[in-house]
Amino acid sequence: MKIDAVTIFPDYFAPLQLSLLGKASSAGIVSFGIHDLRSFATNNHHAVDDTPYGGGAGMVMLPEIWGLALDPLMVDDTDLIILTPAGKRFDQPMAVELSKAPHLVFACGRYEGIDDRVRAHYSSHQYSSRNIRVHEVSIGDYVLGGGEVASLVMIEAITRLLPGVLGNPDSLSEESHNEQGYLEYPNYTKPAVWRDIQVPEILLSGNHGEIAKWRVAQAKKRAADNL
Ligand code: ADE
Repeated sequence: MKIDAVTIFPDYFAPLQLSLLGKASSAGIVSFGIHDLRSFATNNHHAVDDTPYGGGAGMVMLPEIWGLALDPLMVDDTDLIILTPAGKRFDQPMAVELSKAPHLVFACGRYEGIDDRVRAHYSSHQYSSRNIRVHEVSIGDYVLGGGEVASLVMIEAITRLLPGVLGNPDSLSEESHNEQGYLEYPNYTKPAVWRDIQVPEILLSGNHGEIAKWRVAQAKKRAADNL
């Protein structure tokens, strides 16, 4: 999978070199391209934004610069993801869908967002006929300073689903068993007693049938408690 991100803060993406993502990229499972939006600025001051038509607070990112940055990335069969708190809520089924895509492009808006003609332009037939799809996505009902952290959240959730990224692929099938909406059960490891707290007896019993039932019950209880 190829993943590109366009941002005015390329340094935000340094964590892509760490941990699972770093290993996945060294192994060639995923390759990242981080593009500095400001390098496409055409004006003297390298401004990337301007005041909104119609008035109001905040600044809006210029469509011209976004067009110059995105055009070369719009190869056939690309999913363009525009991060915005007004977008569709990101969740695990969306991560699963996007993990099947060959090419993702993350457009990280700042300020009050990107001029809406950027979304409109890349949503037009000219692009959809080449299997280029545009998604406006939010990672949750809160407002971040920009789309960079939201992109990292999505990239981590998506890339860990790619074959060969997780050391133990059983972790994924256990998660999918939980897709009925149950959150995971509580986990324990050594020692059997820690600060006077005992690991639940059932887990030490060796009775796998009873352990599986107990875990389902615990996962349901957790899910109910979190409502
Ligand atoms: N940009 C600002 N807030 C955001 C959010 N919650 N999700 C995605 N992008 C954002």
